[in-house]
Amino acid sequence: MTQLKARIAAKRIEALDICSFELVPVANVNFPAFEAGAHIDLHLPGLPVRQYSLCNAPSDAQRYQLAILREPQSRGFSRRMHDDVQIGDVIEISSPKNHFALASAMDEAVLIAGGIGVTPILAMAEALHDAGVPFTLHYCTRSPERAAFVDRLRAADWADRVSLYFDDDQANRRLDLSALLAHRSPGKHLYFCGPSGFLDWIKTAAAAQGWPADQVHCEYFSGTVETRDSDQAFEIEIAETGQIITVAKGQTALSAMVAAGIDVPCSCEEGVCGMCMTPVKEGTPDHRDQFLTEAERARGDVFMPCCSRSVSARLVVAPDY
Ligand code: FES
Repeated sequence: MTQLKARIAAKRIEALDICSFELVPVANVNFPAFEAGAHIDLHLPGLPVRQYSLCNAPSDAQRYQLAILREPQSRGFSRRMHDDVQIGDVIEISSPKNHFALASAMDEAVLIAGGIGVTPILAMAEALHDAGVPFTLHYCTRSPERAAFVDRLRAADWADRVSLYFDDDQANRRLDLSALLAHRSPGKHLYFCGPSGFLDWIKTAAAAQGWPADQVHCEYFSGTVETRDSDQAFEIEIAETGQIITVAKGQTALSAMVAAGIDVPCSCEEGVCGMCMTPVKEGTPDHRDQFLTEAERARGDVFMPCCSRSVSARLVVAPDY
């Protein structure tokens, strides 16, 4: 993955606890182009790498814009970005990656954002508008103070397609998900991003209304490492070397592999970023991530060692990192 240097060209408070950052290339180079839904890795010394979605229009690739929610529970990354990183600073980033891309052929889209999940949704709205694809955008936050980019949404050429919803709205104007999802058609796609509970709510509603899985697309920002009383120890065999690693009950495969000297790339350690994805040659993974699609899970040829386990007594894996 290409590492790039980026200068902080602008830093703005967009809402309560949300800061946006505009990154521009250092020296006379161009940033790689990106597509709506893409994210970049951000690197800060001494902290685990973090991913943030790009929220500017993909047609405007000579800068990358992202927004960061200050998260008290985080391991310090968002706090450092809010408090310490300033205009003019140079940071390391990756080239854009996209696990949340718009479908290549589509007649219409419904975009739904919860909180900071608005960032990839903004880039999608810009791209759909440029492509002439009809869409509506529904943005839910706890209160107006927590709604980022409202001025941009109101000034956009597509402002008439945007609806805002606030949990604390006295008039109780909440998103009526059943009504929104009631009308589906083969060329209509649904994209949503936000907190886990919000995404689960939309996923469940879409399934209940009969939306096919390949027309439903979402991206999780955080997850949980689920443990079960029925969890058992299992073995991981490294295909190339034959090394056997035991994953104890109560231990993640990631920690067992790292302890055994395997340099597994990781970031979220919660099954949402995809960074630790590891090819599986034999055995049946017990998928517990939020990253893979149902079709990818069914194929069983990759798994996320940060959160997933194994149904079979042994998984033979072929790390490609
Ligand atoms: Fe993010 Fe495993 S480290 S999915």
